[in-house]
Amino acid sequence: MVDQTQDGIGDSDYQAVGGGPAIASVVDLFYRNVLADPQLSGYFVDTDLARLKRHQVQLVSQVMGGPVTYDGLALADAHKGRGITPEDFGRVVVHLVAALEAHNVPADIVGRVVTALGATQDDIVGAH
Ligand code: HEM
Repeated sequence: MVDQTQDGIGDSDYQAVGGGPAIASVVDLFYRNVLADPQLSGYFVDTDLARLKRHQVQLVSQVMGGPVTYDGLALADAHKGRGITPEDFGRVVVHLVAALEAHNVPADIVGRVVTALGATQDDIVGAH
């Protein structure tokens, strides 16, 4: 059998879902969902969306075991002073799951992404 681990990305969730292009498409839909949500859209009025998407693609790729390193702000700094509530956080996670599912990402992988990103809640909710 071919050893897929030699390229450093074999068997990763990143590879399983289709790598960078697939994750970029997920992140695109994710922010379309977020910006269409009246409870969330106001948070992003002054945001550089290209930068935000680029960094979110990096972060999701990294937690999926891809050959990509997140180089944005520390999440506590990026969300500092924004007054983000636990309910807001939950809605963002729901939109992310919907975007993953719309791309037919298998449930076990969705679960791992949600666990990894859900663990950032304390850095994002009420960060000041
Ligand atoms: C799973 C939860 C979340 C993750 C993984 C996440 C991740 C990120 C990342 C990677 C960035 C980019 C940082 C940079 O460019 O340096 C960012 C920025 C941002 N996030 Fe989140 N985020 C989450 C939840 C939320 C929630 C719940 C809100 C508000 C409802 C929010 C609002 C924002 C805003 C407004 C920015 C842009 C800040 C700016 O304009 O510079 N995020 N987030």
